[in-house]
Amino acid sequence: MPIVHMTVPSGKRIELEVKTGTPIMRAAVDAGTEGIIGECGGAAMCGTCHVLVDEAWLDRLPLMSQNEDDMLECTAVPRQANSRLSCQLRMTEELEGLELTLPERQR
Ligand code: FES
Repeated sequence: MPIVHMTVPSGKRIELEVKTGTPIMRAAVDAGTEGIIGECGGAAMCGTCHVLVDEAWLDRLPLMSQNEDDMLECTAVPRQANSRLSCQLRMTEELEGLELTLPERQR
């Protein structure tokens, strides 16, 4: 299974296995990952799955929908240029090794 590297709010770096086709938020929540909530279940309506993407990976991600773009205006920690909603990022083989950092809070 492809691996995603995540730096969680406590500063710890973790490895998360994400099945191809699964949203990264879903895998992170199922694994009990610190610092990610996914309150709306992946509908891009809560902003509690906010992640910061390592610059080197940004252009390898799927394009952002208008919904995601709008929701990123409502995250607990203000969006940055590399912000995405992890519920909108489905795992692919090409994303093996993706580097993400979680913001310090989601609410
Ligand atoms: S889980 Fe709600 S916006 Fe991603």
